[in-house]
Amino acid sequence: MGQITFIEHTGTAHVVEIEEGQSLMQAAVENGVPGIDADCGGACACGTCHVIVDNGWIQATGNINADELGMLQLTPEQSETSRLACQITLSESLDGLVVRLPEFQM
Ligand code: FES
Repeated sequence: MGQITFIEHTGTAHVVEIEEGQSLMQAAVENGVPGIDADCGGACACGTCHVIVDNGWIQATGNINADELGMLQLTPEQSETSRLACQITLSESLDGLVVRLPEFQM
């Protein structure tokens, strides 16, 4: 359906193929992208799937609900474009998305 680029804090890029309807976290885990631990399996309860979305893409990733915001506030390296990857559902509109991985997850 499209591609997404994950960039590690070291600058190493991982380009992965995405499928409609999967989460950004699932795309990372299924493609072996390092740095997405996803300890809770996508329940918005662990904060270990933190990504920093490129500025130009943040609106396309959708709204942040109160649960996600609360979890993000606990993560080290939170930024204005931080998201939890498990809370972003992939669609064609996100083809070409670029996200950066923090050095540390929770
Ligand atoms: S996988 Fe646990 S909050 Fe996203």
